[in-house]
Amino acid sequence: MASALPVLNQIKQELADCQQCKLHEKRTKIVFGEGNPEARIVFVGEGPGENEDKTGRPFVGRAGQLLDKMIEAMGYTRSDVYITNVVKCRPPDNRVPETDEVACCSKYMRQELTAIDPDIIIPLGLSASKAVLGLDSKTKMGDIRGKFKVKSFDRPTKGNVVMPTYHPAALLRNENLKAPTWEDLQKAMSYLKELDNVT
Ligand code: URA
Repeated sequence: MASALPVLNQIKQELADCQQCKLHEKRTKIVFGEGNPEARIVFVGEGPGENEDKTGRPFVGRAGQLLDKMIEAMGYTRSDVYITNVVKCRPPDNRVPETDEVACCSKYMRQELTAIDPDIIIPLGLSASKAVLGLDSKTKMGDIRGKFKVKSFDRPTKGNVVMPTYHPAALLRNENLKAPTWEDLQKAMSYLKELDNVT
């Protein structure tokens, strides 16, 4: 399969100094996805927080440190996977990205997912799950987490497997979400093992 790298570089070029939505007004740095362009797993977060906005890298704050631990518990390192966000600029005060901002920016996330074409996509939290799966505003996290879905992006013939789970920031606020999140990640790992056995 063709490397995703040219598409990922093209996204960076296209977004350099992006002013397509109001999030550009208060951002410090645009936070692009990072990691392995041939990753089998892509994690998708909601949008950059304060540390990400300062450094220009996704998931480097407290939630990011927990995500690193989750990745390691799955038997991978951060450089094996790819990590991105639905919106690439920090929403002020870490509010949830608004509909117009998601509408503007999520095409870049879809381009990343289409180019990398991972074996599994793991959206973290409700906002990312809705953006990845194209779900409506009434969807609740408890209804979708831990359930495999298949989503076709720009490829009409083939879909990508998606396993929504809780956002690591939610786990930092509520320890009780750790066990169900680990169950979801284990389902993702079993699916990857199954693929290894059939190929
Ligand atoms: N939360 C997110 O959703 N994304 C980040 O990059 C950091 C925190």
